[in-house]
Amino acid sequence: MLQISNRYLNLLAVGMLLAIVFSCKNSVKLSQDSQAVFNKKENSIFQEKLDIDINEELKFCEQQLKKSVAENTDYTTHPRLIESGDKHWEMPKNGILVWTVGFYPGILWQMFESTQNEYWKTEALKRTLPLEPYKNNREHHDVGFMMYSSYGQAYRLTGNKEYRDVLIQSAKSLISRYNPKVGTIKSWSNELHPQWKQHITIIDNMLNLELLFWASKETGDPIYKEIAIKHAETTMKNHFRDDYSCYHVVEYDEKTGAVRNRNTSQGYADESVWARGQAWAVYGYTMVYRETGNPQFLDFAKKVSERFIAGLPSDYIPYWDFNLTGKTGEPRDASAAAVAASGLVELSSLVKSSELANRYCAAADGIINSLASKAYSAKGVNDAFLLHSTGAKPQGNEIDVALIYADYYYLEALLRRSVLK
Ligand code: GLY
Repeated sequence: MLQISNRYLNLLAVGMLLAIVFSCKNSVKLSQDSQAVFNKKENSIFQEKLDIDINEELKFCEQQLKKSVAENTDYTTHPRLIESGDKHWEMPKNGILVWTVGFYPGILWQMFESTQNEYWKTEALKRTLPLEPYKNNREHHDVGFMMYSSYGQAYRLTGNKEYRDVLIQSAKSLISRYNPKVGTIKSWSNELHPQWKQHITIIDNMLNLELLFWASKETGDPIYKEIAIKHAETTMKNHFRDDYSCYHVVEYDEKTGAVRNRNTSQGYADESVWARGQAWAVYGYTMVYRETGNPQFLDFAKKVSERFIAGLPSDYIPYWDFNLTGKTGEPRDASAAAVAASGLVELSSLVKSSELANRYCAAADGIINSLASKAYSAKGVNDAFLLHSTGAKPQGNEIDVALIYADYYYLEALLRRSVLK
C-alpha cells in the first residue's frame, strides 16, 4: 500500500512538474476555438474571395463622411468614437496627448484621393491645418500617427512644401525620443505611466516609423531611417514570444538597454495576445520591409501575420484579445481587423510566391467581407464605417464602439485592395 502510494505520489509529482513546464512553454496557448481555426487555415489555402463590390463600399464610406463632416464643424475637436446606441461621433478636444487627431483628416484625404473631388480636399485641409503645432510634440511617440496620417497624406496628395516642412519637424521630434543604448524610441513618458520607471516601448510604435523612412527619402539624411531600422530590429528581438505573438509593452533599462519587464496595458494579461498589438506588428513589419527591402523583415512580417491569422475566429474578426477567443461576453476588435487587413493586402503585394500572395489576400478578403457585412457595418446605425471596436478594455474605455482608426485603416484596406493585381 505504502509502495503504491509512494509510486502514486511520484507520478503525481512528475505529472505536476510536466504540467508546470508545459503551461509555462504554452503560456500564450490559443483557446480551443481559435486553435481549430488555425489548424484549418494552416493546412489549406483558404478559399475566401472578396464578395463585396469595393466601389459600392467606397460609395457607402463617402455617404457616411458626408453626414459626419456636416456634424463636425469645430476643427479644434476631432471624431474619436461613437458609443453603441449613439449616432454621431464624440468630439474630444484636439491636444498634444491625443494620438487619434490625425485619422479623420487622413480619412478625408483618402476620400479625396479616391474620388478626386475637390470638396474632400477642402474638408481635409480644414481639419489638417489645426494640427500643425503637434509637429513639436516630444512628449510621446504618437507624433507619427498624428502627423503622418494627416499632413503625410496632405503632402503626398498636394506636394505643398509647407506640409513637407511640418512633417520634417515632426520626424525631428520623434527621433528626439530615441535612446541609442536601448536601440528604440521611447513610446510613453513615465509621468503618465508610472508603473514603468524607465524606457518604455510599445508595439504600436512600429507604425510611427513610417514617418522616419519618409523623412530620410525627402531630406537625404539617413539618420531617420537608421533609427527606424534599429528600432524595428530591437523590437523584433525583444517584443516577441517564440510563437511570434507580441507583448504590448517592453520596459528597458535606459542605461544598459537590458529588458526589465514585458507587460501589457491594453491587453487581457501580460502573457496574452492583445489583438490590435499583433495587428500593429503585421502592418509595421510589412511597412518596414517595403521601406528597406531587407528580407529579414519580410520573413518576420510573414511570421507575425501567420500568428495573427491563427488567432482569428471563423468570421475573421478577432476578439479584442486572442486569448479570449470564443469567450461569451468578450467584445471583438474591428480596428485590429482593419489594421491587419490593410497590412495583409500590402504583404500580399510584396511576397514573391503566388501561393503566399493568394494566402494573405484571401485572409484580408475574409476580414473585409466580414467588416462590410451587416454584423460589423455601421450602415443605417451611425456615422462611422464600422461598429464593434475595442480601444482599452482593461481601463474600461471604448468597449464595443465605433473607433476612428478602425475607419481609417478600413478605408486604406479597401483602397489598397482595389488596386491589388
Ligand atoms: N496606439 C494605441 C492603441 O492602439 O490603442
